[in-house]
Amino acid sequence: MKKIISVVGARPNFMKVAPIHKAFQKYSDKINHLICHTGQHYDAKMSKIFFEDLKLPKPDFYLGVGSGTHAEQTGKVMIEFEKILLKEKPDLVLVVGDVNSTIACSLTAAKLHIKTVHVEAGLRSFDRDMPEEVNRVLTDSISELLFVTEKSGITNLKNEGVPEERIFFVGNVMIDNLTQHLEQTNKLPTLSDFNVEPGNFVLVTMHRPSNVDSDSQLKKIVHMLNSIAGKRKIIFPIHPRTRKNLESRKLIKSLNDNVILTDPIGYLDFLCLLRNAELIITDSGGIQEESTFLGVQCITTRKTTERPVTVEIGTNHLVGDDFEKAEQLAIEILNGNKKSGQIPELWDGKAAERIVDIISDKLLN
Ligand code: UD1
Repeated sequence: MKKIISVVGARPNFMKVAPIHKAFQKYSDKINHLICHTGQHYDAKMSKIFFEDLKLPKPDFYLGVGSGTHAEQTGKVMIEFEKILLKEKPDLVLVVGDVNSTIACSLTAAKLHIKTVHVEAGLRSFDRDMPEEVNRVLTDSISELLFVTEKSGITNLKNEGVPEERIFFVGNVMIDNLTQHLEQTNKLPTLSDFNVEPGNFVLVTMHRPSNVDSDSQLKKIVHMLNSIAGKRKIIFPIHPRTRKNLESRKLIKSLNDNVILTDPIGYLDFLCLLRNAELIITDSGGIQEESTFLGVQCITTRKTTERPVTVEIGTNHLVGDDFEKAEQLAIEILNGNKKSGQIPELWDGKAAERIVDIISDKLLN
C-alpha cells in the first residue's frame, strides 16, 4: 500500500484538494490518501464550513499553526509537518496553490527526500512583492511533478529550465470542484436570504495586503463601493483581515446601506452568489478563474495576474490597484457593456482524474 499526504492550509486549498481526494478513491486498495490541515486558517467560517460543504473527511493530521508573520507561520508549519513526515513516511506529498502552507510543506518534504507534487504549478504574476509569487516559484523549483492549469504555466516552467517530462497540462481542479457542486446551489435560499435577484447585484471580495492594509487604498475602496451602491446592491463577504482594518480606521460605518457586509461565507453559498452576480469585483486569485468558467463579468483590482488566460479569453478585466478605474469600468459593465468570454482548454471537470491517474502510474508501476 502506498501512502500520499495532501496538504491544506488556507481557504483556497480546500476546494482544490476535495476533488483530488474523491478521485483517489478509485485507487483506495493500492493508495492510502491522507489529508493534513496545517491550521493556517482556523476560524470556522474560513475552514470548518468548507469541510462540511465539500464533504471532505476530517483531516488525518491537524497542525494547529494559526496566524503569525510569514516567517513564524512558515516556520511553525515546517516544524510540525516534519514530525508527521518522520512518523508516517509517506511515498509522496501533494501540495496545491500558493499559500504559506504550500511552500512550508514542500520544503519540509524536500529536505527529507520525500517527493512532492504541485497542483496549480507554473502560474506567475512576475511580481515578487506578492508573498504567493515567492511561494509559487520556490514550490515549483523543488517539486517532482508539476500539474498545470493553463498553457502559460507550461511556458513559465520551461523558461525556468524545468524539464518537459515533469510538466503535465491537466486542467483546473478548482473547476472540477465547481462543476461537482453547481447543481446543489439551485436549491439554496442564498439569494432570498440576501434579498437580491439573479443578475441584478454586485459581489465583492477584497483581502490582499496591498489593497486592504493601507489607509489610502481602504478609503478608495469605500468610495468605489458607495458609488456603485448607488446603482446596484452590493454583497461583500468580508475577510477577517479586511474587517479588522476597516474597523480600526472607523471606515465600516461610512459604507452605504446598499453595501451588505457579511462574515466570510461557505463554498456553496458563495458559488450561488457568484453564478448569479451581474459583476464581481475581487483581488482573489481563484475567483478570476471561477468567474471566467461561469461567464460572469469580473473586475480584478490587481496590477498583475498569474492567471492570464482569464483576461485573454475569459470575462476577467485587470484594472491595477486603481479603484477609480474599477468604479468607472463597473458602471460601464452595469450599463450593459459586457465582455464575452470562453472557457479555457481542459477546464472540463476532469483535472483531478488526470492528476490521480498520472500519480498512480508513477507510484505503482
Ligand atoms: C492567505 C494566503 C492568500 C490567500 C488567502 C485566502 C498566504 C501568504 N496568503 O492570506 O494567498 O488568498 O489566504 O484567504 O498564505 N485570520 C483570521 N482567521 C483565520 C485566518 C486568518 O482571523 O482563520 C486573520 C488573522 O488576523 C491573520 C490574517 O487574517 O493574521 C491573515 O491570515 P493569513 O493566513 O496570514 O493570510 P491571508 O491574508 O488569509
